[in-house]
Amino acid sequence: MAYNLLKGKKGIIFGALNDQSIAWKVAERAHEEGAQIVLSNTAVAMRLGNVDELAEKCNSIVVPADATNAADVENLIAKSMDFFGGKFDFILHSIGMSPNVRKGIPYDNINYENYLKTIDISALSFHKVIQMCRKMDAINDWGSIVALSYVAAQRTLYGYNDMADAKALLESIARSFGYIYGREKKIRINTISQSPTPTTAGSGVFGFQSLLDFTDRMSPLGNASADDCADYCITLFSDLTKKVTMQNLFHDGGFSSMGMSESAMNQYDKSFKDCDELKKKE
Ligand SMILES: NC(=O)c1ccc[n+]([C@@H]2O[C@H](COP(=O)([O-])OP(=O)(O)OC[C@H]3O[C@@H](n4cnc5c(N)ncnc54)[C@H](O)[C@@H]3O)[C@@H](O)[C@H]2O)c1
Repeated sequence: MAYNLLKGKKGIIFGALNDQSIAWKVAERAHEEGAQIVLSNTAVAMRLGNVDELAEKCNSIVVPADATNAADVENLIAKSMDFFGGKFDFILHSIGMSPNVRKGIPYDNINYENYLKTIDISALSFHKVIQMCRKMDAINDWGSIVALSYVAAQRTLYGYNDMADAKALLESIARSFGYIYGREKKIRINTISQSPTPTTAGSGVFGFQSLLDFTDRMSPLGNASADDCADYCITLFSDLTKKVTMQNLFHDGGFSSMGMSESAMNQYDKSFKDCDELKKKE
């Protein structure tokens, strides 16, 4: 159901790779809510995924950009301003990648070159995008910038590796730049800490299926889906959340406030019983 929440608004959406991507769902919802959007991803992702299909659906254009590259980001912002005919109102940063995770290199034997790439792609790119927008005075007053984070920024989750450090930095950048951009232009900057979600990036996380089941059992409302996340992003781009800034907003069905749930306890008990059965058989 559409509410025209973004009627007349314009924004850049980074990170739609395929129809599982969180950014893909956000783009669809933003279009439905009346926004004009520009899509961006790396040239490689544009070849591997099907973002052109999304652009057609949303009457949008796709501008390739490696978000770690200042010249690419500058070109993207300039092209977006041409397309929009001036400044725009919102940005979604939905970008994450760790070469260490991809290559299965554990945190306690980390490759530092990979580590720097993780930080650059998954966190510094957020700073680079915001800094360039500010230099080019590209965002309207009362605009909204959102990046996607994960609870591993606050709590240790086995196997999340250097992405946890990147997410902690990402959330800190939202606070540090949120102060500067808020004071100057009333532009708000927040991160959404999303449930595990079956996407290309999500599925690359160690033990993803177990994690998905565990967080679903632990959360009173169950895991938040990519569609749910898109709905939440829309509220943050809309004028209904003008005074929300510098926050990390948990969007996880309640997971981050839980210690133990009945459903998780039952599953844990079941594994004890299975062990007992096995012992009896031995
Ligand atoms: N899936 C989950 O479980 C989950 C949970 C919490 C947060 N997140 C975060 O959500 C965001 C989106 O991920 P997703 O789950 O939709 O997966 P996804 O794989 O669909 O999206 C990740 C995107 O990052 C893009 N990207 C990688 N390097 C880039 C670069 N240098 N420049 C520009 N773009 C680049 C990829 O091309 C891809 O489109 C990420 O920040 C991720 O960490 C995901």
